[in-house]
Amino acid sequence: MASLNIAELRRSYTKSGLLEEELPSEPVEQIRLWIRQAVESEVLEPNAMTLSTVKEGGSPDSRMVLLKGIEGNSVSFFTNYQSEKATDLEICPKASCCFWWPELERQLRLRGDVERVSRKESAEYFATRPRESQIGAWASDQSKLLQSRNELIQKFSEFEEKFSGSEVPVPDHWGGYRIKLIEVEFWQGRPGRLHDRIRYHKKDNQWNRFRLFP
Ligand SMILES: Cc1cc2nc3c(=O)[nH]c(=O)nc-3n(C[C@H](O)[C@H](O)[C@H](O)COP(=O)(O)O)c2cc1C
Repeated sequence: MASLNIAELRRSYTKSGLLEEELPSEPVEQIRLWIRQAVESEVLEPNAMTLSTVKEGGSPDSRMVLLKGIEGNSVSFFTNYQSEKATDLEICPKASCCFWWPELERQLRLRGDVERVSRKESAEYFATRPRESQIGAWASDQSKLLQSRNELIQKFSEFEEKFSGSEVPVPDHWGGYRIKLIEVEFWQGRPGRLHDRIRYHKKDNQWNRFRLFP
């Protein structure tokens, strides 16, 4: 097999541009627009974002999650409250998220303070999930050591049987987090690495907007 020269991989971005006069004064509408355009562009997982948290001692960690809601100036996602990310968020309730939509040559970065969503909101969203995912939430001790795949399959079968013929309730250990946005950055790739970067920062409840060098 021919060797792969990773350093030689590069692409010129030509699809679009970002002009201040075309952007709203608050970033949330632009987030909605970019997600809608990602959906229309048939991006495989348009709402998938890297979520970064900070551990005790200051070490960062990242993983993908699915954005599930935009409410006011906040975005939300759902997870296991006993997972590693949840442990990080209990210690340091701050997060940053990053989307990359290659089809649109766009990056979106979000940063904010994190809090749990209400049990009611978690239960409402949980009720809309496919039954398999609901049972999966009971069967997975997310981020804990698993001896074998069989153990997981076994646990899934046990909960399938336990809830057979009835609705699957939302587990206490499962629910949403809301990221209250304080910084949002829209990045649009441009030729010659002269990319557009427009950053919004919230201060004293007011959004300010800046253009940054790429
Ligand atoms: C595209 C994609 C979407 C994902 N969405 C979620 C999600 O919404 N919630 C979640 O808990 N895990 C999700 N995961 C799994 C996480 O990336 C991760 O493996 C898991 O949450 C455990 O992370 P932790 O040990 O850091 O807590 C997703 C993974 C991928 C690849």
